[in-house]
Amino acid sequence: AAILYKEPFRPQFHFSPEKKWMNDPNGMVYYKGIYHLFYQYYPNDIVWGPMHWGHATSTDLIHWTPKKIALFPDKLGLIFSGSAVVDVNNTSGLGTKENPAMVAIFTYHNMDGEKAGKTNFQTQGLAYSLDEGNTWLKYKGNPIIGNTDLKDFRDPKVFWNSDTNLWNLVLVAGDRAKFYTSKNLINWVYKSEFGKGIGAHGGVWECPDIFKIKVENSNEEKWVLLISINPGAPNGGSGTQYFIGDFDGNSFKTTQKETKWIDYGTDNYAGVTYNDAPNNKRIFIGWMSNWQYARNTPTKNWRSAMTIPRELTLEKVNNNYVLQNTPVTQLKKQLNVEFSKETLNLHPNNPSTINYDNLNQSQIRFTAPSKNLKLIFSNTVNDSLVLDYNAKEKTFSIDRRHSGIVDFEENFGKEIHKNSTPNIISKTIDYQIIIDWSSIEIFINGGIYSFTEQIFPKKPYTKLSFRSEENLELKNLNLSKIRTIWKN
Ligand code: FRU
Repeated sequence: AAILYKEPFRPQFHFSPEKKWMNDPNGMVYYKGIYHLFYQYYPNDIVWGPMHWGHATSTDLIHWTPKKIALFPDKLGLIFSGSAVVDVNNTSGLGTKENPAMVAIFTYHNMDGEKAGKTNFQTQGLAYSLDEGNTWLKYKGNPIIGNTDLKDFRDPKVFWNSDTNLWNLVLVAGDRAKFYTSKNLINWVYKSEFGKGIGAHGGVWECPDIFKIKVENSNEEKWVLLISINPGAPNGGSGTQYFIGDFDGNSFKTTQKETKWIDYGTDNYAGVTYNDAPNNKRIFIGWMSNWQYARNTPTKNWRSAMTIPRELTLEKVNNNYVLQNTPVTQLKKQLNVEFSKETLNLHPNNPSTINYDNLNQSQIRFTAPSKNLKLIFSNTVNDSLVLDYNAKEKTFSIDRRHSGIVDFEENFGKEIHKNSTPNIISKTIDYQIIIDWSSIEIFINGGIYSFTEQIFPKKPYTKLSFRSEENLELKNLNLSKIRTIWKN
């Protein structure tokens, strides 16, 4: 299809639906060389409505092919978030060993039940595909997990646990995670609950994920539990926290005390990881928005995009586990170096400036000493976006108050978003900044700390100034254009 993808604010190298409303990524599974991305989708409007699963596929996580809608609402309800696996051993009997079923497990949200004032209107359903995700059948015995009396009971993540040789499923209920096991993906046994007295509870828990991961530079393995929460994120509204611990297939345990966040920006929500990604990689995609203003952003025809896919790794910094997220290496193929400088010297009162015709489709990388540093992106119509690292306070902030169109909702441009950065302990800081037509993603020290925000500049930023109140030497500065992923 000849899609232009050239409307104002349309992402040029992030996934966004051709038209209409999108929220959470769903059913992320890799099979036969293809990354499947399903997503919460409402095909009739650019605001949230009765949910379907949209579908797109990719071989490199960067270029996406739009596919037909995979799942439509039915008499059991709307199709809320969930996950997918390929049943290679045909444990479900829904396919064959030669042609295994792709199985999606999702939440049914029953509107009639909700309107009637019932509390048990969310249940878990199953659908399967016998043609590698192209067409889908609903399982006749749905729902596969009923609900007794829980209003918020949703977002199942299913995966094969090779330690126990069983399927595992985690879902959320209120502000708890619940774990289940199954032999066949259809009959599920409830095992345990997690969440009391730990982590952030400012809102309902949503979109859980759990996976085992190696600690970098060691033989240690840990389990990571991701939990999205709305509201209650560090900078307001929606955000994703994580827990590092151990999981024996039945229950998750941790000694973690503090709340940890996968991203400190406002716009990385409901993110989960791929099942069966090659080379044991943990690939994460988040929805690049926030329920505070998701419905109000100034786009037409479509609404919302996904984050750049990121590889997750687990690091130990100062004896503390930190989940690091960094753009997938496949993004490098989209880069065209336009400008590079081995050293750039900054002096107080004398900012260094780079002019470039479209910073809103670029990557900026450099290394700086761990000292105060300000970066200001601006354009010819006085929009400006300010990033600020404060070495003494050990904080990092983004000021998007004057970044472009901000007045579509009261919170969007209200405050400077500021967070402490306890894990930045090195003498130098590596900055990787990726900007698209309506987003900025900042990865510090390889993603030990990341910051994702939407922005709606009235014109592309064309000027980048670096400011410091000391003499500073920036190293290995380069600016790359990021080529569009859309044809035309
Ligand atoms: C998260 C969420 C999920 C739910 C879906 C509905 O953004 O609220 O909990 O399944 O969106 O679209």
